[in-house]
Amino acid sequence: MGYVITVDGPAASGKSSLSRELSKKLNIPWVSTGAFYRGLAFAAIQRKIALTDKVALSELALSSIWKVEMTPEKTQVWFDGQDVTEKIAQEEVGNFASQVSHYPEVRSSLLDLQRNCAFKAEGLVAEGRDCGTVVFPQAEAKIYLTASSENRAQRRAQELGLDEKKLVVQQQKRDHQDSTRKTAPMQAPKDALVLDTTELNFNEVVTQVHKFVQQKIHKAI
Ligand code: DC
Repeated sequence: MGYVITVDGPAASGKSSLSRELSKKLNIPWVSTGAFYRGLAFAAIQRKIALTDKVALSELALSSIWKVEMTPEKTQVWFDGQDVTEKIAQEEVGNFASQVSHYPEVRSSLLDLQRNCAFKAEGLVAEGRDCGTVVFPQAEAKIYLTASSENRAQRRAQELGLDEKKLVVQQQKRDHQDSTRKTAPMQAPKDALVLDTTELNFNEVVTQVHKFVQQKIHKAI
């Protein structure tokens, strides 16, 4: 396994944009682990599996009817031979993903698939909720991004053309669900660089994180 950089944090905190940029700078792949939960929730809906049926969900997690692929721009999801990446990006699918992610059985079915992403190159940037705590606890550099909920809702509203006020409420609900679940709750890893990006522009975030990552990686490899 190569070196790993993890980027965790709440919904729409800028994890994917930062991960994509780090991956370009370091010339290593990146993966959104949220895509696994979104892909599974999407596949369950297509297959008419209840989002509460943890046994069927954890079986479906291992089925080859759907898969996740890393590309430089995005983490792609395929279902039944079709690229459903845009469909799973919808906020509604994010909420369904949060529901299925609650089950320990589902999480453990997806764990190896997520870890396998680190075996494909000399390094990996992995983003999600528990990347630094559970998926890659040994990661060389860990980052935890936060931002005010208004700021995050504004970002997502612009990206998806949605109503900002409704998004604040939905995201707060999702963050609450993700941070209070018993298994692998969203939390800042102990040794993470915690960065509140509310008052920072994208370049400032990238510069600070890149500096931190380089120090950590030089120490480790
Ligand atoms: O990062 P995202 O919005 O694509 O994540 C969608 C949901 O998936 C998120 O609300 C909770 C779940 N998730 C998780 O439980 N653990 C991860 N490492 C990533 C996502």
